[in-house]
Amino acid sequence: MATVMKAPKRQLTFVTDLNKCIGCQTCTVACKKLWTSGPGQDFMYWRNVETAPGMGYPRNWVSKGGGYKDGQLQKGKTPAMIDYGVPFQFDYSGRLFEGKPGRVRPSPTPKSAPNWDEDQGAGDYPNNSYFYLPRMCNHCAKPACLEACPNDAIYKREQDGIVLIHLDKCKGSQNCVSACPYAKPYFNPVSNKANKCIGCFPRIEKGVATACVAQCVGRAMHVGFVDDVNSSVYKLVKQWKVALPLHPEFGTEPNVFYVPPVLGPRKEDSQGNVFEDPKIPLAQLEGLFGKGVKDVLKLLAMEREKKVKGQASDLMDVLIGRRSVDMMISPMT
Ligand code: SF4
Ligand code: SF4
Ligand code: SF4
Ligand code: F3S
Repeated sequence: MATVMKAPKRQLTFVTDLNKCIGCQTCTVACKKLWTSGPGQDFMYWRNVETAPGMGYPRNWVSKGGGYKDGQLQKGKTPAMIDYGVPFQFDYSGRLFEGKPGRVRPSPTPKSAPNWDEDQGAGDYPNNSYFYLPRMCNHCAKPACLEACPNDAIYKREQDGIVLIHLDKCKGSQNCVSACPYAKPYFNPVSNKANKCIGCFPRIEKGVATACVAQCVGRAMHVGFVDDVNSSVYKLVKQWKVALPLHPEFGTEPNVFYVPPVLGPRKEDSQGNVFEDPKIPLAQLEGLFGKGVKDVLKLLAMEREKKVKGQASDLMDVLIGRRSVDMMISPMT
C-alpha cells in the first residue's frame, strides 16, 4: 500500500563537484562513525565513494533495477549480502617483504568488497581514466522506496524533504531495498529493519551542515535548501544548471546533484602530445548524467577561461568555495 505523500515545503539538496572530489573517503568515514557502528551495520555505508567506471557498492548496483518506468514502480532486485563485500586484510608483509603474489588474506581470495576496484578505471594507457563518484540516498522527490513499502514505514518530511524510515513501523519487508534503483536502503539482518541515510536531520534541525559535507576535505560538497536563492545549491542547480542528477532515467527525481568531471586531463599520444578531447569519454558521462553534460562542459570551460584571463566568474567562485560556510546550509528560517 503506497503512502500518500505531500510535496515538502522545502527540499534539502546536495551538490558534489566531481572535479574536486579526491576520493579520500573522509565523508564515508564521517557518516559511518556517526551513524552506523551498531550491530548488523558492519557492511552498511550510507555514504560511499566509488570509482567510476567500476562495480560500485553494492556490487553492480546500477543494473539492479527498481525506480519508475512510464510512471510505474519497478520491482528491482535485492542485492545479496556478498555484494556488500566480505572483510579482508591486505597482505602487507607477504606483498612487500616476502615476494608473495596476491594482495589479501585469508584465502579464498574475495572477489569484491567496497572499493575493491578503486582507481582501476578503464581505457588504455596513456588515455585510461577514472573519477570518484560519491553516493548517498538522493532524498528523491518520487521516492520508489516509499511507494514500495507495504507497511507505510517510509515518509518524506514536509519541512525539509528528507526521506526517512520509521523504524517502529518497519517490519523488514525489504521492498524498499529492491525498489530503490540506487541501492541505498540497507537491510540489517540483526534488527530485521532497513536503514539508510537520514540526511543528518538532527544536525539540519539545528542549522548545522551534514557530517559528510562538513568534513569534506576536497571542499567538493555543497548542501542547502534549493529555494534559498543565496545558497550555492540554488546557484549550481537552478541558476547555472551545472549540477545534474545521477541516472535521471531511473525516474525518482533525485535531490543529490553532481557537477560532472569535465575539467579533467586531455587525451595524449605516446609522445606526450596533448589534444583537445578529454580522457574521460563523453559517452560515459552522458550514461551517468544524461545528455545535458555536453552543455555543462561548454559552460564550465567558458567560465574557467574567464578566470584564466583574470576576469570575474560568479560560477567559478561558487565552485571554488573560498569560505566553507558559503557551501553549507544557511540558518533555518
Ligand atoms: Fe528512496 Fe532510494 Fe530515493 Fe533514497 S535514493 S529516497 S532510498 S528511492
Ligand atoms: Fe551520512 Fe548524514 Fe551524509 Fe546522509 S547526510 S550520507 S546520514 S553524513
Ligand atoms: Fe570526495 Fe569530499 Fe568525500 Fe573526500 S570527503 S571523498 S573529497 S566528497
Ligand atoms: Fe518497509 Fe523497507 Fe521496512 S519495505 S517494512 S521500510 S524493510
